[in-house]
Amino acid sequence: MPVSFTRLDPSGDDHDALVEFMTRNEFPFHVHPRRSAAEVDAAIDKGAYRDEDNDSFWVDHRDLGRLGVLRLEDLSDDAPLFDLRLDTPFRGRGLGVDVLQAVTDHVFATMPTVKRFEGQTREDNIAMRRTFMRCGWLKEAHYREGWPVDGGTPLASVAYGILRRDWETGETTTFDWDDLPA
Ligand SMILES: CC(C)(COP(=O)(O)OP(=O)(O)OC[C@H]1O[C@@H](n2cnc3c(N)ncnc32)[C@H](O)[C@@H]1OP(=O)(O)O)[C@@H](O)C(=O)NCCC(=O)NCCS
Repeated sequence: MPVSFTRLDPSGDDHDALVEFMTRNEFPFHVHPRRSAAEVDAAIDKGAYRDEDNDSFWVDHRDLGRLGVLRLEDLSDDAPLFDLRLDTPFRGRGLGVDVLQAVTDHVFATMPTVKRFEGQTREDNIAMRRTFMRCGWLKEAHYREGWPVDGGTPLASVAYGILRRDWETGETTTFDWDDLPA
């Protein structure tokens, strides 16, 4: 696997590089596409990058170097979520598939109590949605108008998930959306 993770020390050695990464890049499909250094600092202080619920990692590639940042959330539940942000020059090259596969391996291999792993994205983040599908994640919810858009109409938030047993077998199990007759 060409992708690996290096745990970040957000308020220590990695602080300046993390702030630089988060302020240099634009994230058009996030609630806040641009972040100031003060906002990133506030998030670090609140524990968004490391506390009992959150952890964060540099995403590294064997041949390409540092690709971006991964944040895991809800770690005190047994169904964590993630936020993945590739550096702009590494987007649009299909690297998200290798990264999401490596993230999924990391979570299930290192967290034995985790039975499901979840992710959400905005409905028009086609690159992320295709990446979920390519990695065998299943669409589980479509929250209409669930994603606030600054100065605009809210968009849908689309939720995907993968089960430990699907990761183990490589088979995506599904369910019946219309299980209750009208
Ligand atoms: C989202 C992200 C991880 C996706 O990884 P990526 O490697 O850049 O993904 P790509 O742009 O190569 O696109 C993946 C697939 O979607 C397709 N795609 C991308 N944009 C598309 C569009 N607008 N319309 C149709 N297809 C599109 C690509 O053609 C590719 O298709 P394939 O699987 O058939 O090859 C990465 O772009 C990123 O970090 N973006 C910024 C942060 C972000 O939005 N993170 C998601 C929040 S969790």
